[in-house]
Amino acid sequence: MWNQTRVTQALQLKLPIIQGPFGGGPSSIKLAAAVSNAGGMGSFGAYSFSPDQIKELVADLRAETKHSFAVNLWIPYQPDSESRVTESQYRDAVGRLQPYYDRVGAVAPTYGSLFRSQSFEQQIEALLEAAPPAFSFVFGVPAPEVLRACRERSIVTLGAATNVDEAIALDDAGVDIIVATGSEAGGHRVSFLHHPDESPANSALIPQVTQAVKAPVVVAGGIADGRGIVAALMWGAEGVQVGTAFLACDESNATAEHKAAIRSDRARHTTLTRAFSGRYARGIKNEFLLDMQPHETSLPAFPYQNFLTQPLRQAAAKAGLSDFQSLWAGQNAPLVSHTKATELLNYLAQDTERTLAKLKSL
Ligand SMILES: Cc1cc2nc3c(=O)[nH]c(=O)nc-3n(C[C@H](O)[C@H](O)[C@H](O)COP(=O)(O)O)c2cc1C
Repeated sequence: MWNQTRVTQALQLKLPIIQGPFGGGPSSIKLAAAVSNAGGMGSFGAYSFSPDQIKELVADLRAETKHSFAVNLWIPYQPDSESRVTESQYRDAVGRLQPYYDRVGAVAPTYGSLFRSQSFEQQIEALLEAAPPAFSFVFGVPAPEVLRACRERSIVTLGAATNVDEAIALDDAGVDIIVATGSEAGGHRVSFLHHPDESPANSALIPQVTQAVKAPVVVAGGIADGRGIVAALMWGAEGVQVGTAFLACDESNATAEHKAAIRSDRARHTTLTRAFSGRYARGIKNEFLLDMQPHETSLPAFPYQNFLTQPLRQAAAKAGLSDFQSLWAGQNAPLVSHTKATELLNYLAQDTERTLAKLKSL
C-alpha cells in the first residue's frame, strides 16, 4: 500500500503527504490544521517566532487538531566576520534600495535593527517545552543533545537535505525522517554543506539519497499531483512534502498577489535569487528580482538583506504590489489548481490511486 510507509507510521498519518512549512508569514494555523485533520500532516514555519510565540503556536495548533503537526525552525546561520554587514555596506545597500522604498512609501530600517534575529537556543527550549508532535528544520543538523531531547519527548524530527552528503549527515545524527529537497522546490534552497547551485533536481537526488540512508525519505520540490507522488515512491521515497500547491490555497497566509502570481502564466518563470533575503530562494520573476540580478553576488547576506527588504515587502503587500514582494514558488506552480487545502489533499491521494492504476494497465 502506497499510503502505509515508515513515514505514516512514525507520524500516525493516513496519507504520506506533508504540507510544507512556510517561514516568515505565509503559514497559518488554519492551513496546518486542515491538512492534519484530513489525514496528511500540516506544518508551520516559525523561524522568526519568539520563544513565547512558539509555545502559543503549539497550544493553538493543539486546540485545532488532535493529529500530528510539525513546527519548523531554521538552524542558525553563523555570520562570520566577512558576511556580518558593516556600516558602510549597510549604507550602500540602503542606497540601492532607496528608490524602491520611495516607490512604496517605506522607511529603511536602522543599522542596529539588522541584528535582531531570534536566539535559536531559546527557540529550541520553547519547542522542547511545548513538545509538538514533530519538529522539522532546515539549514543544518541540530546538536546531538537537541535530537536526544526530542527523542525523550517523542517529538519526531524531520531534517532537510539538498544533496547526498547532507542526507548522510542527517542520517548519521539519527534524524527520524529526511526531507530530500530537489532544486524544483519553491522558497529557500536549504543547502548547508555545499553551494545551493550544486543541488540536483529530484530525479537525480532522490534515488541517490534513498540508496545512501537508513531513515525514510520524504520528497520536497515540484510535487503537485499523483504523477509526482508515484515518481517519488518509485525513487524509493516514503512520503512527499508539498509547498507551492498548499501555499496557493485559501487557508494560507500568503498575500492575494502571491496566490494570483502562482495561478498565472508568470508562474512558468521562476528563478533562484538572493534579492529578498540574502539567501538563494526560488521565486516567480518580478521587477525587484530582475533589477537586483546584476547585484546578486554583492547583496548583504541573510539575515541582513531579509531585514533590509522587510519594510519594502510589507509596504508592497499593503499596497497590493506584486513587483516588490517575494513570490516564492516551485517549478511546478503551473500545475496548481485547487483553492481548498482539504480538496487539494484529497485530490493528491485520489490522483495517486489513478496514476498507479494507469501504470498497472500499461
Ligand atoms: C513561501 C515559502 C516559504 C517556505 N518556508 C520554509 C521554511 O520556513 N522552512 C522550510 O523547511 N521550508 C520552507 N519552504 C519549503 C516548503 O516547505 C516545501 O518544502 C517546498 O515548497 C516544496 O517544494 P514545492 O514548492 O515545489 O512544492 C518554503 C516554501 C515556500 C514556497
